[in-house]
Amino acid sequence: MKKHIDHPVFGVIAKAARELNVEVYLIGGFVRDLLLKRPSKDVDVVAIGSGIKLASKVAEMLGDIKVSVYKNFGTAMLNYEGLEVEFVGARKESYRRDSRKPIVEEGSVEDDQNRRDFTINALAISLNEGDYGELIDPFNGMKDLEEKRIRTPLDPDITFSDDPLRMMRAIRFATQLNFRIYKPTFNAIARNKERIEIISKERITDELNKIMMARKPSRGFDLLEKSGLLQLIFPEVQALKGAEVKEGVGHKDNFYHTIKVVDRVAMVSDNLWLRWAALLHDIAKPVTKRFDPDIGWTFHAHEYVGAKMIPGIFRRLRLPMNEKMKYVQKLVQLHLRPIALIEEHVTDSAIRRLLFEAGDDIDDLMTLCEADITSKNIKKVKRFLKNFEEVRNKLQEIEEKDRIRNWQPPISGDIIMETFGIGPSREVGIIKNTIKEAILDGDIHNNYNEAHKLMLEKGAELGLKPVK
Ligand code: CTP
Repeated sequence: MKKHIDHPVFGVIAKAARELNVEVYLIGGFVRDLLLKRPSKDVDVVAIGSGIKLASKVAEMLGDIKVSVYKNFGTAMLNYEGLEVEFVGARKESYRRDSRKPIVEEGSVEDDQNRRDFTINALAISLNEGDYGELIDPFNGMKDLEEKRIRTPLDPDITFSDDPLRMMRAIRFATQLNFRIYKPTFNAIARNKERIEIISKERITDELNKIMMARKPSRGFDLLEKSGLLQLIFPEVQALKGAEVKEGVGHKDNFYHTIKVVDRVAMVSDNLWLRWAALLHDIAKPVTKRFDPDIGWTFHAHEYVGAKMIPGIFRRLRLPMNEKMKYVQKLVQLHLRPIALIEEHVTDSAIRRLLFEAGDDIDDLMTLCEADITSKNIKKVKRFLKNFEEVRNKLQEIEEKDRIRNWQPPISGDIIMETFGIGPSREVGIIKNTIKEAILDGDIHNNYNEAHKLMLEKGAELGLKPVK
């Protein structure tokens, strides 16, 4: 282990602990990531004694380093040469970073390890003189790391009841690290799932976002579904599951389709909100589903109904109610448009309208639409992707010509009012809209002169006369 902990701060921590006569260990995610060779900047240090006193001593020895002390939590933190080091005293009760409970009982390193969430997060490295650099692994966490397994150190019913968020964490780690969840641990999640209700929405959503940002988010959603947690935390996504058959006609399982789309977006983009748009693109399919004996299953207007559902979902999950939400809403609403373009005929005016509505998000929309093609029919997929390529080319061509993406009206409301000597009125809106429609339809070009001419014509039609 020694060669792995060569950052200078570890030597200083060891020395400070010796001077204070306390034992000290590295523990938790940093040790796990070190062994997995994943880069990590957050170091957790546990002292058998006061973490705060140790942090102050370390800071003093490093020479005037600032320490942030959180008295209520009994923790202290400092930054040094790229590492964020948090100090805490070993404790007997459950370890929770954001626990509001004051620390009551001090404990040994074993006590501290016992109360952690998973064996792979309970690994410790000694920074003490006798066994500096040695791995302390009472639960065979190393074996679990090797075998890629998430397992609780204690009876899982105890570990999960100490902090039910750990059920989500198990699934999140399995997704991020591409690990399996040990069967008895997974069964305990299914058994204790209702306890998730006592956890704040913010903490749950933090975990969801981490699952979303993994390389293959579908693993996480699949586990959430199988454990029964999904129904409790995200019933709208759960409702996508299932493929009904009527009169011998079935439809695809929208849950598996959706999570595949999320994976496909994740393969090409790190944009969290684009991934959310993928998760929610078909969210209204269950509520719009109808069976028509003549045409089979329909999900009429699910893109509009879906867009309307987004604010409610974002509010409930405590996701930001700002332009990120609007962006997801826009992509959900527009997600069928590029495909509709292909199926009809790709006219310039349809392209201009799409550019106008999607604006700068047009590329993300195309990424989502391409990811939405999850058919197993290779020929079909090839044809779709080729057609999308055509739409992309056309989008570029029209954009270069007409500059619609960030469209600003070439004639403003002020110019219209000045020209005809009128105030804000219905007529101003009508003229502005006429100009916009004419540009999108390709009747006039997107420039001042042609728009000005049309303004005068439309004004005359409305009985308005230019004042000068
Ligand atoms: N921990 C725990 N139970 C929790 C949260 C955290 O036992 N509900 C313990 C684990 O030992 C974990 C450590 O606290 O390794 C640090 O927690 P945190 O920073 O949340 O997670 P990391 O494991 O560091 O992983 P990541 O940074 O990826 O979240």
